[in-house]
Order: sequence, then structure tokens, then C-alpha cells
Amino acid sequence: MNEKIYVPPIKIQGIKTKLVPVIKKNVAVSENTLWIEPFMGSGVVGFNVKPRKAIFSDINPYIIDFYTNLKEKKITSYIIREFLEEHGKLLSEKDEKYYYEVRERFNNEHNPLDFLFLNRSCFNGMIRFNREYKFNVPYGHKPERFSKAYITKIVNQAKYIEECLQICDWRFECTSFEEALSQADENSFIYCDPPYIGRHVDYYDSWNEDDERKLYEILKNCECRFMLSTWDHNDYRENLYIKSLWSFCFKLTRNHFYHVGAKEQNRNSMVEALLTNYELSDSSNEFLNENKQLYPA
Ligand SMILES: C[S@@+](CC[C@H](N)C(=O)[O-])C[C@H]1O[C@@H](n2cnc3c(N)ncnc32)[C@H](O)[C@@H]1O
Repeated sequence: MNEKIYVPPIKIQGIKTKLVPVIKKNVAVSENTLWIEPFMGSGVVGFNVKPRKAIFSDINPYIIDFYTNLKEKKITSYIIREFLEEHGKLLSEKDEKYYYEVRERFNNEHNPLDFLFLNRSCFNGMIRFNREYKFNVPYGHKPERFSKAYITKIVNQAKYIEECLQICDWRFECTSFEEALSQADENSFIYCDPPYIGRHVDYYDSWNEDDERKLYEILKNCECRFMLSTWDHNDYRENLYIKSLWSFCFKLTRNHFYHVGAKEQNRNSMVEALLTNYELSDSSNEFLNENKQLYPA
């Protein structure tokens, strides 16, 4: 039977929902492990691994603000239901005009509930900010978006986090990956999912060679285990950093479709890779198990 995968309330492009089963099978986390996820995005990976202790961080302040508010009970699943019922009704009455009203309000006031509203009613559930750091994703054109069933789904997604926060010690930090990773020691496990070089669509979500090298230096020298999500190749290119920088790692690869573009031709088939500094135990045939050190020293 397929295991149930928890989906978080805030969605993001590049969300790793499909990789959760194979990641869960291959991470090494015990009661005492401090899970560090410096590119949390939606948080889907760590939220499913459900470590006792964790630092979830991201450079996007609105993601962190949403979860900090949940943690501090400034917003609750009950408040989310009330908010989405009220504002979902306004969306069904005023349609597009209301979406852009909320977008404008969010860009001035940064209310985490408006952020949730926008994230769940915008085009393709994307998070994208322009160079002025304004949320600029257009409307998804579904005035009846916030149906009773849809609101209940989002409320249950928030309830799961509320329940986790009662038993787990989770911190949410708006910080760079360098700062988050400086908190790692030998009892930590690091899961990294940085943006892919050259594919950025968002001003919080850019990545260049310098960043990749900095991440390499930190991970190469860290005292604990890590797993890094990256891309391996597509029909046109291969990720040369796997050979040049990450050659000390073990690797699993898998074919995965990104449903970012609305049109079929915008979807590029991408073979993803998981790189680790320890031997993987995975035997699932979903991933091509290349469980060997790539280029041993
Ligand atoms: C590919 S997404 C992570 C997706 C996530 N694993 C998921 O499944 O939802 C990359 C994330 O890294 C964040 N990010 C980009 N540059 C960063 C940096 N220098 N330090 C910390 N976070 C960064 C982005 O805001 C984005 O949320």
C-alpha cells in the first residue's frame, strides 16, 4: 500500500512531494537528531520526516512568517477557516478584482493569511516576487476556488503542523543557508534543496556558481550526514557540478516531471538526483540505485 504523504498549506514551485517516500527511506534520523533544512520552501520533506528537533529555514520571509505565526498560535487552523470563508466569499463575488485587491494589500501589509490566500488562489500555486520584492503571480481565474471542501483541506493541512508543534521542537528561521548550516554539529542531519542554477523565476530564489561552491565547502566539511537534492540531467544538458564538485558523494537518480508550465511543451523532463555523504540503503526501483561513490578519491 502507498504510504500517505502529508501536503503542507503553502505550496511552492519545485515542491518535492513526489520524492518524499524515497527521501524518507534514505535519511538517518533518530530521536536526538537535529534536522536542518535550510531551503525549506513548502517544508514538505521535513514535515513528512517529522523529526523531533528541527530548524526549518528559508530566505523567503513570508514562508517563515506563516509558520512562526502558527507556532506562536497567532494564527490557528480555526482562524484560517474563518479567514478563508470570509475572503473566499468575497473572491466568488468580486472575482479577479478581489484577488488583485488582496495582492496589493499583501504587498503593503504582509499579512500571513493574505499570503496563504494568494498562494492558494494564484496561477498554478506559485510563489514569485519581482525585483521590488512584490508578490506578482497573476490570478488563477477560479472565483469558486475556496469551496467548503477546499477550505477543509487547507485547514487540515494546518492542523497537522499544529499537532506536530505540540510534540516536536521545530524552529523556523528566516536566514541564509550559511547561517542555518553554521548550527550543525555531529548530531545533525542536513537536507538541502537549493534552487537549480539558471532556473530561477523569483527574487528570493536565485542561485549561481558562487552559491553552489559555498554550499559545497560547507557540506564537504560538515561533521554530520547530509542529503542534497539536485538535478542530474535533462535531454539537453547534464549537471556538470555533480562531477566537478560533488564527486565525493553517493547518488540516486530518478525521472521526474515538473508541472510548472501550463503547456505541455513548457514541461521539461528532468532526471533528479539525491546526493549523500553516506551509503544509501534504498532498494526501491523507482529510483535507479547508483549506490556507489561517484568518483572515489
Ligand atoms: C527548490 S526550493 C525548496 C523546495 C522544498 N524542498 C519543497 O519541497 O517545497 C528552494 C528554496 O530555497 C530558498 N532559497 C533560495 N536561496 C536561498 C539562500 N541563499 N538561503 C536560504 N534559502 C534560499 C527559496 O526561497 C526556496 O524556498
